[in-house]
Amino acid sequence: MKIHIVTSVEGRLKECDALILPFSLNRTPLFDIDQFASSPIFQACQLLNQVGSFQGKEDEVVIQYVDSVCEKRIVFLGLGSCLDQDRFFEAVRSGYAKAIQLLLREEGVQRISTCVPSSSEKEGNTFSSHQSQRIFRSLFEGIGFGAYKFQKYIGTQPLSSIQEVCCIAHDYEIGICEAEIASVTIEAARIVRDLVNSSAHEVTPDSVTKSAESLRSFSGIEVQTHDLAWIRTQKMGLIEAVGRGAEHEPKFVIIDWNHSKSDRTVFIGKGVTFDSGGLNMKPTGAIETMRCDMAGAASLIGLMHAVASLKLPIWITAILPLVENAVSAHSMRPGDVYCSRKGTTIEIANTDAEGRLILADALNYAVTELNPARIVDVATLTGASEIALGSDVSALFSNSNILVSELEKASQQSGEPLWRLPLHKKYVANLKSDYADMKNVTGNRAGGAITAALFLEHFVENIPWAHLDIAGPAYSKEGRGIYGKGASSIPFRTLLEFCLPRAGISR
Ligand code: BES
Ligand code: ZN
Ligand code: ZN
Repeated sequence: MKIHIVTSVEGRLKECDALILPFSLNRTPLFDIDQFASSPIFQACQLLNQVGSFQGKEDEVVIQYVDSVCEKRIVFLGLGSCLDQDRFFEAVRSGYAKAIQLLLREEGVQRISTCVPSSSEKEGNTFSSHQSQRIFRSLFEGIGFGAYKFQKYIGTQPLSSIQEVCCIAHDYEIGICEAEIASVTIEAARIVRDLVNSSAHEVTPDSVTKSAESLRSFSGIEVQTHDLAWIRTQKMGLIEAVGRGAEHEPKFVIIDWNHSKSDRTVFIGKGVTFDSGGLNMKPTGAIETMRCDMAGAASLIGLMHAVASLKLPIWITAILPLVENAVSAHSMRPGDVYCSRKGTTIEIANTDAEGRLILADALNYAVTELNPARIVDVATLTGASEIALGSDVSALFSNSNILVSELEKASQQSGEPLWRLPLHKKYVANLKSDYADMKNVTGNRAGGAITAALFLEHFVENIPWAHLDIAGPAYSKEGRGIYGKGASSIPFRTLLEFCLPRAGISR
């Protein structure tokens, strides 16, 4: 998808299939309507003002067909009030996504133009350059995310796909800069979503390893991949245990981007390419979407792709423990005891609580081998986090208030909500085993997201650490907001926003 920024209507490069015009409440145009004075668009706007039911409320989209040399369709897009900033940015993101989703149902929509929402003097407010930056970003992300469709396994060709976006804007410099970051973000998010959406018989530990290896095409990324033999020499007994039942052997991948003399941030992503639950098998209704259980690992592949594309001067490392939780005569059993890399023995109380097992060995590897200044792990870890916070909000756990505030800030920038839950120490007792040093889960499901996080905390020693449980937001059967059905790429954009300030890019 190519993005062009032009400063006047005359500057529009070519004719387009649709022109999106943004409005605030009471049909207040968020663009300079006079620039269209001698075109059919002006008449269409007049018509809308006179007869339409369109108000300019959030998420209102009306498509009109016009007989113009330039545009075939005009899309009237409502963005609501501009007064509550954060809500307005969200309205821009979701409004543009909705407009694009509607346009893509029509045949042949490839090139779109839009006037970037600019100050609405009638509402008595003007946008600062910082606000203008956020508007550009929300607009690009809305278009990029709205245009994504996963059609790999659908025989018929997609009706339309957006090839070019032409933005008519006053702030050319800001637009160009945001377009560069947004193009990278949209591309990397597509990689994440394709990986998560693809069938689990194709997306195996081996194939995710190959996706990670393809990052070597960026100069300056180092990718180390390790097989089961290495995992054994590392005494990663928990990763080995989870992988036992599968035909596809586990892998352990380390991706390094070392472009700064500053300290190192290590990310760890849960990479369960399919979670059948193991011998404690998941029932119908819970098992069908479990290809999404590598969304943590996928979001880190996206992150490394974006950071390398933008050549950010930072030092980050991504660790991907990759494994399939399958059923066979070799599967780990409930009641088995395995020894972790750290040396703590673990009773497997439930084979479906496998994510924390592979993360435990990965965390211990990071702590003992990589000298991290901070660790952030990302995992579709517990259904309990979705019960607690719903499917929009990721659960955040951390032993560091600094990390929490950095991640909260990043989440505000990305519009991917998260909420901190407590590492309530009393619940550690739930993980006490009569048979080993610890068990992987308690019989009582209450507070399940917290006990999972407490299990992980045992392996992080005292290093500043944050854990994002994305079981709710990573994937949606029904489709949600700007994302449509399937993988959302959450929390990829939050992680990128978390990295930008370290690279000296303040937003
Ligand atoms: N992969 C699941 C968690 C999950 C649930 C991800 C829904 C995405 C959507 C995880 O491995 C799991 O099965 N957790 C169990 C833990 C339980 C056995 C303590 C759960 O949440 O039920
Ligand atoms: Zn599971
Ligand atoms: Zn899982």
